[in-house]
Amino acid sequence: MERMKMYWLAVCLMLACAEASKILVVFPLPSRSHGNLGDGVVKHLLNAGHEVTYISPFPYKNAPPTLRTIDVSKNFDIMPMDIMSIKTIMDSRISLDSMGFMLYMMVEMMRHTIQTEGVNKLLNDPKEEFDLVIAEWMFTDVPAGFASVFDCPLIWLSSVEVHWMILQLVDQPTNPAYTVDIMSAYTPPLNFWQRANELWNQVKIKFLNFVWLDGVQERAFNELIHPIILKRGRKPPTFDESRYNASLLLSNAYISTAASIALPQNHKFIGGYHIDEEVKPMSAELKKIMDNAKHGVVYFSMGSNLKSKDMPEELKKSLLQMFGTLKQTVLWKFEDKMENLPSNVHILDWAPQQAILSHPNLAVFVTHGGLLSTTESVHFGVPIIGIPVFADQFLNVVKAVNKGFAQRVDLSYSMADKLKEAIIEVTSNKRYAEKAKELSLIHHDRPVKPGVEMVHWVNHVIKTRGAPHLRSPALHVPFYQKMYLDLAAVLVILFLAGRVLLRKICAAVCSKKKSGSQKKNN
Ligand SMILES: *[C@@H]1O[C@H](CO)[C@@H](O)[C@H](O)[C@H]1NC(C)=O
Repeated sequence: MERMKMYWLAVCLMLACAEASKILVVFPLPSRSHGNLGDGVVKHLLNAGHEVTYISPFPYKNAPPTLRTIDVSKNFDIMPMDIMSIKTIMDSRISLDSMGFMLYMMVEMMRHTIQTEGVNKLLNDPKEEFDLVIAEWMFTDVPAGFASVFDCPLIWLSSVEVHWMILQLVDQPTNPAYTVDIMSAYTPPLNFWQRANELWNQVKIKFLNFVWLDGVQERAFNELIHPIILKRGRKPPTFDESRYNASLLLSNAYISTAASIALPQNHKFIGGYHIDEEVKPMSAELKKIMDNAKHGVVYFSMGSNLKSKDMPEELKKSLLQMFGTLKQTVLWKFEDKMENLPSNVHILDWAPQQAILSHPNLAVFVTHGGLLSTTESVHFGVPIIGIPVFADQFLNVVKAVNKGFAQRVDLSYSMADKLKEAIIEVTSNKRYAEKAKELSLIHHDRPVKPGVEMVHWVNHVIKTRGAPHLRSPALHVPFYQKMYLDLAAVLVILFLAGRVLLRKICAAVCSKKKSGSQKKNN
C-alpha cells in the first residue's frame, strides 16, 4: 500500500516536472501600465508551475526561485516618460500623434533592450534554452527575434484590443470600412468620410513602413539578432520569416468592450487577466472614508504615467475648488502635498485602485481612459468620466461613451465646470451605472477566467510545438491573390486578346466579302 502511494507520488512529480516549461517573457517598455501587464503574465505562469525569465524595467520584489528577472530599467534613459507630463501635453510642446516617430522610438527601445548587459548575456549564452517566448507587441516586430534565437514558438501579447497592424502579423489587416485604427477616435458604423479616412490611414502607414520603417526594423534585426544565431551555429532567418512566425496572439481585451469582429483561431481574448482574483484590502483609514461617504465617492486618477501634480497650477486650483462644491466625497490620486483641502476632498499619493473600484460606495471614476483603468472599471462595473490625454485613451473613452457607461471631458485649462456637469450627470442619471453593471456581467460571463484561458493556450502552444494547426491560411496569401487581381488581369488580357482576334477575323471576313463583291462587280 505504502509503495503504491510512493509510486503515485513519483508519477505526479514526474508529470509536474514534465509540465514545467522555461518561458521568456519580454515586456521592456518603461511604463508602469505595461509593466503591470507583464507582471500579470508572469504571475499566472509561475502559478502554473513554469520557470520564467522576465525582461522588465521594473525590479520584482520577493521573486520566487522559479523567476529570474533581467533588469532593463536603463530604458527609462531613452524613453523619458517625464516629458509626458500633463502640462507639456496641454501646451502641446510634444506631438504624440506622430505615428512615424512613435514606431521609430519603439525600434530604438528594442535595440537598447537587446544591447542591455543582462539581455545581451542571456542571448549570447549558448546554454540558455527556452520552450516559449511571450513578447508584448508595441509597434515593432523586432522582439520576434528572441524566439528565433532560441528556436522556439512565439506568442505576441497585445496590450490593447487587437487592431489591423498587429493582426497582419498572424492573419491579415482588418477591413477599414468597419474597423478603426488604434489611434482613431471613430466608432463604427463609419460614414463616408470616416471610412475614407481609415483607409487612408492604413495606406499611409503601410507606405511609411514600406519606404522607411520596415528597413529600420530589418536593419536592427539583422544587426542584433543575426550574429547571435550564427554563433549558435544556425542559419539566421530573414526578418519576415521571424516576424510572421508567431503561434498565438493574446489580446488584453474582451468582447464586453472590444469590437465583435471575425478573428483568426490563434487569437485569444484574455482581457482582465492582470486583475487579482481577490482584491487586496485598502487601508483602514481609506476604508473608513469610503464607508462613511453618504453621497457616494468620486475617485479621480490620471493613471500612473501622467501625474496630477504636473497639472498647471490654475487647473489644480480650479479643480480643487470645484470638488469642494460637490456633495460627494472626492478621492484624488495626487502625488504631492496640497494645502487648504475642502473637507470632502482627500488626497492619496498612491491609490489602491482595484480596492477603491470594488467599493460599493464608489459613484464614478474620473480617469485618463488608459486601457487598464477602463478594463478595471468594466471589471468592477463602475461608470467613468474620461479625460483622454494621448494614444489609445481617446479611443477607449469614445468607446466607453458609445457603450453608454461614460461621459467624456476634454483636457483644458478651463475644464473644471465641464467636469462638474459630467459628475452631476453620471451620478444622478442611473443609466450610466446600470450600463456599467451590464457590461461587467458580460465581462465575467466566460467559460473560464482570463488567467486560466491564457495558461491553457500557453501550454497548448508548448505541447503542440507552436500550434501550427491554429495558423490562419490568409497569412501567406499575398494581397493580389486575395483580391484575385491576377485573375482579373488574366480576364482583362483574355478580353483584350479576344477583341483583337475578333477584329482580325472580322477584318479578314469583311475584306474577303468586299473583294468577293468587287470581283462580282468586275
Ligand atoms: C517558427 O516557429 C517555430 C515554432 O512554432 C519555431 O520552432 C521556429 O524556430 C520559428 N522560426 C523562426 C525563424 O523564428
